[in-house]
Amino acid sequence: MTAPNPPVRKTIALVGLMGVGKSSIGRRLASALHMPFRDADLEIEIAAGQSIADIFTQFGEPFFRDGERRVIARLLDETPHVLATGGGAFMDENTRRLIREKAISVWLKGDLTVLAGRVGRRDVRPLTSGKDPLAVLQAQAKVRYPQFAAADIVVETGDTTHQITVEAVLIALKSRLKETA
Ligand code: S3P
Repeated sequence: MTAPNPPVRKTIALVGLMGVGKSSIGRRLASALHMPFRDADLEIEIAAGQSIADIFTQFGEPFFRDGERRVIARLLDETPHVLATGGGAFMDENTRRLIREKAISVWLKGDLTVLAGRVGRRDVRPLTSGKDPLAVLQAQAKVRYPQFAAADIVVETGDTTHQITVEAVLIALKSRLKETA
C-alpha cells in the first residue's frame, strides 16, 4: 500500500455516521500517509475536561455542537493531518464550509446494520444510549446523507476490515489528486 505521490498537502477530513470506523480508519490512514492523526471527539473531551456523554448530560447537545464547531475550526488551522470528525459534525454549515476550504473530505459510507452492530456493542454514545441503534442510524442517514454527499470522496466500507477501507481511501485519494493536479 503506497501513499500518493506527490504527497497529500491538505488535511483529510473523515465524515460519516457513528460506528463506521472514522477513528480506527483515520489512525491507520494517517500512518500510511505519514501524517499526524487528530480525533475531533477526543479533542473536544480534552478541551472540556470531560467525556462527550457527560457534556451531553450536563450541558445538552447544542453546547456540545458549539464546542465541536470551535474545536474543528481550530484543528483545520493546524498542519495537514488526518482528522476523524464526529458523526454530526458535517451537519454544521460553518464546519462544512471550512472543511470544503481547508481539507479533502472523505465520506465513509457503511451498511447501517453493520454500523448498528458496532455501536450497540459499546454503549458510550449519548445519541444511541438506551435506544435501538439501527433505528437511530436509519433516522440519521435520512437527514445526514444528503449533506455527506457533498464530500469530495465517497468510499463504501462494507462489512470488511478497516485495513481494506484504508486501501480504498488511498486509491480514491490518488485518483483525486491526479484529477486536481
Ligand atoms: C455523534 C457522533 C459521535 C459524537 C457524538 C455525536 C453524532 O461521534 O460526536 O456522540 O451526532 O452522530 P462518532 O461518530 O465518532 O461516534
